[in-house]
This record gives sequence, structure tokens and C-alpha cells, in this order.
Amino acid sequence: MSQLERTFAIIKPDAVAAGKAGAILAHIEKAGFTIRAMRMETLGKAQAEGFYAVHKERPFFAELIQFMTEGPVVLLALEAEGAILKWREVMGATNPEKAADGSIRKLFGSNIERNATHGSDAPETAAFELGYFFRGYELR
Ligand code: RTP
Ligand code: MG
Repeated sequence: MSQLERTFAIIKPDAVAAGKAGAILAHIEKAGFTIRAMRMETLGKAQAEGFYAVHKERPFFAELIQFMTEGPVVLLALEAEGAILKWREVMGATNPEKAADGSIRKLFGSNIERNATHGSDAPETAAFELGYFFRGYELR
């Protein structure tokens, strides 16, 4: 049985700087998601490090934090049936070169790091990430 679910998404600094935020939002709505909360801001270092804490031992961590704080991002709470998996599919593979035709990362990503969007990868991470960036009253 399918049911309404929420996931957390980010339009990353590369896509916002390239003027693609509007096109990505249109793509999101066309794919059938309801935007339940949205905010644009430039992340601070501590904020980005806390968000990506699971990756802190990875070799690309410092570069990832540098990238994610280089300019404004769009933070999103997306709702749909099976939103978490559905958003991962709509985004495509982490590496835009390997992402399916028509996926957001294929259309708007540049490389494995500058890949246009973020998406939660499981119910537990979606709950953590939504709560990390949005207040309870913003997610009613
Ligand atoms: P995300 O968390 O942003 O939705 O991406 P993901 O699950 O597809 O990929 P993940 O393994 O969680 O990696 C998080 C982000 O780190 C950057 N990255 N850089 N230089 C590299 O080899 C490398 N690998 C990953 C990407 O921005 C990736 O989305
Ligand atoms: Mg991830």
C-alpha cells in the first residue's frame, strides 16, 4: 500500500548559481511532488558539516563542505507517495555521467560533486534532514 511521505531536498550551489533553480522546481512539480516548505540561504560551515556528518571520514568531505557553502542553496520539503525513493529516481545517480536520461542530475549536474541536487536516502535520514533545516510549524 502506498502512502504520502516527505523527503528532504536541496538545490545545490552549482545549480542556483547557474540560474537553474526555477527549472528544477518546475521539474519537481511536473514529477508530481508537492512543495511543503522552501527556503533559500547560504549554508555556514558548521551547518553544512552537521548536515553531512555521515561523510566526515570520506576523502571528499572538505571539498564537499567548501562546495555546499560557496553560495545560496534552496532547501525543500517534498511530499508525494513514496517520496524518498521517487525523489532519488527523479534526481538520478550521484555521478551525472551515469544518471539516466531526463533525470535532474543528467540535465543539470556537472560532475560527481557538482551534481545539482541532494535527496534523503532513507526514512531515518529524511526525518533527520527535514528536522535539521525546518521548524515543526513549517512542516505542518
Ligand atoms: P546526496 O547525499 O547529495 O543526495 O548525494 P548521494 O546520496 O547521491 O551521494 P553521497 O554518497 O551521499 O555523497 C554526497 C555528496 O558528496 C559529493 N560527492 N563527491 N568527489 C567525490 O567523489 C564525491 N562523491 C560524492 C556529491 O555532491 C554527493 O552528492
Ligand atoms: Mg547521500
